[in-house]
Amino acid sequence: MALLAGAFGAVGAAIAAFPLINSLNPAKDTLAMASVEVDISDIPAGAAKTVMWRGKPVFIRHRTPEQIESAEDVNLQNLIDKQTDEERVKKPEWLVVVGVCTHLGCVPQGQKESDNHGEFGGWFCSCHGSQYDTSGRIRKGPAPKNLAVPPYQFLSDTKIKIG
Ligand code: FES
Repeated sequence: MALLAGAFGAVGAAIAAFPLINSLNPAKDTLAMASVEVDISDIPAGAAKTVMWRGKPVFIRHRTPEQIESAEDVNLQNLIDKQTDEERVKKPEWLVVVGVCTHLGCVPQGQKESDNHGEFGGWFCSCHGSQYDTSGRIRKGPAPKNLAVPPYQFLSDTKIKIG
């Protein structure tokens, strides 16, 4: 009888454990968000696209020659978080950054042409006035760091994979 009770006990434990183990498996949509492939063929020069990656907006900007020049033509001594534009891009015409202000986490404006791009032509965070340039570097205001560059790669000239 004790053996039987033991056997039932083991079955009960196995049944009870199943939902727990199952709940530890990441949901399919969570796995899918670990990386995201983005078609960039529909972003004309001067325009931008926002995609969600791991719950955060990622800004993809197709930079114009003027925007590239303004990002490259900067004295590093004038930067709060000193990074060259070259360190932040894989191809000069494409900038890919996490669209979360490094001050307190607001999403800066600047993705639409009609948005306020701030004094440096990039993004403006209206929460407390941080201003980012065309390389996503912090130039003015309370944010301490540049907009983060996520891990990404070009799968082709028209497709990138973020994550
Ligand atoms: S959260 Fe962007 S300036 Fe404060």
